[in-house]
Amino acid sequence: MELVFATNNAHKLREVKEMAGSEIHVLGLDELDFHEDIAETEETLEGNALLKARYIHQRFQKNVFADDTGLEVEALNGRPGVYSARYAGEGCSFEDNVRKLLLEMKGQSNRKARFRTVIALILEEKEYTFEGIVDGIITRERSGVGGFGYDPVFRPDGYTISFAEMEAETKNNISHRGRAMQELFRFLLSKYA
Ligand code: IMP
Repeated sequence: MELVFATNNAHKLREVKEMAGSEIHVLGLDELDFHEDIAETEETLEGNALLKARYIHQRFQKNVFADDTGLEVEALNGRPGVYSARYAGEGCSFEDNVRKLLLEMKGQSNRKARFRTVIALILEEKEYTFEGIVDGIITRERSGVGGFGYDPVFRPDGYTISFAEMEAETKNNISHRGRAMQELFRFLLSKYA
């Protein structure tokens, strides 16, 4: 079967194509010649994932899925959450976001946080959502140079290193996005394999 992943992120797309195997042919937006940025105007991860999937479905009438991720920090009442990409303001860098987070968490003893990914799937006109979560803590200092975003200050539970210090494969196996994708493919393969 053919399935569109509503993303322009080549890295995410490659990862997902590898997970999909031969049963499911995943297409990126590039392959549909679609290069617009879909504005994420909803206030929840579920809302934004559905918004992107619905937009592409309406445009191309194809089976499609989309994802949205947020970092939810307990001491900040779940912030930055759905605003994780623009926590330090529109057009900010990953480094701006990390700096703001460490500043807001200064002196805070409750360091608990989690990454949460929601995937919205539209398959044969029906909508489904899948979730992936990884629990951990916000460290007091940056460590590691791998990954992206908040990786240098996020240490998953059960590990002594940050996401930015991990091999990509290890991170992908336990990460929020990896887990949500595993849920999606488990569902699809149970239907189509
Ligand atoms: P997106 O929905 O995947 O674009 O993620 C939104 C924002 O969450 C990104 O801009 C990053 O700041 C953050 N984020 C998402 N996934 C990760 C991750 O695996 N590590 C660190 N930060 C992430």
